[in-house]
This record gives sequence, C-alpha cells and structure tokens, in this order.
Amino acid sequence: MNILILNGPNLNLLGKREPDIYGAQTLQDLMTDCSAYAEQLNHSVTHFQSNAEHEIVNAIHDAMNTIDFIVINPGAFTHTSIALRDALLGVNIPFIEIHISNVHARETFRQHSYLSDIASGVIVGCGTHGYKLAIESAAQQFNHQQKNG
Ligand code: DQA
Repeated sequence: MNILILNGPNLNLLGKREPDIYGAQTLQDLMTDCSAYAEQLNHSVTHFQSNAEHEIVNAIHDAMNTIDFIVINPGAFTHTSIALRDALLGVNIPFIEIHISNVHARETFRQHSYLSDIASGVIVGCGTHGYKLAIESAAQQFNHQQKNG
C-alpha cells in the first residue's frame, strides 16, 4: 500500500518549535523513521509538508489513483479549513488525522476539527509516536478492507 503523510503549517519547525509540546525530533528524522516503519510492514510512504493551504489541497488531489491511505497532521488548518475537508471528501481516500499534542487539553479553538468526523481514525496527544500509530492503523484498516472488500 502507498501511504501519503501530509504535514501542514509550522510542522517544518519540529524540533525547534515549542519542544515542550511538540518534542525534540526534526520533521526530517521523524519522516525517515516513518518510512522505515512502513517498510517493515511492507508498505511505502511518501511525505509532503507545506505551509500553504492550496499546496496541501493540490497534494490531496494528486494522490488520487496512486495513494491508498493518507495520514494527515493539518496543523492549524485543522481548525479552519473547509477546503481541506472538501479535498479529502473529493478524492475519497481514507485518512487518519493525527495531532502530536492533545488538542482537547489546550485552547478551546483547537478543540474543533473540520476533519475528524470524516476521518477513519484520529490520533491525538501521543507525541510524534502518533505517526507510527497512524501507519499501523492504516495498514490494519487497508488489510481488513482487502480481505473483506
Ligand atoms: C497540531 C495541533 C494544532 O492545533 C496546531 O495548530 C499545530 C499542531 C499538533 O500536531 O498537535 O500546528 O496539529
């Protein structure tokens, strides 16, 4: 299976940005770990990060026909973007929403997501380890789908 990991705004600053909330690992190191983990499960990972909403929308469109599963940390676009919601609905690719921090224990404006109700899973507050949990869950859901149609 081909997994696309999408990271939204400011996630390029991982490792430097509020490390008490987001951890010390850089995005590059995290994505290297994710690729290795997916390979262990016989899946492959492509990664894209952007600070621009339209670039993430375009990456979702480009995923049509080649990507089986999306893992997305939309960053602050989680709480604002109907465009990301519409793009994910438009391509009809199953996706898991992930947040490094526990958004429910933070400011109230982080407690609403435009994506959670249409996601096939949501992983919140497990730190950067959440990306591996998302890959594992994507693999499990994909295998189940292949078996049961
Ligand atoms: C985040 C949570 C969002 O509220 C925030 O805007 C981010 C990161 C997380 O991974 O915890 O940029 O998605």
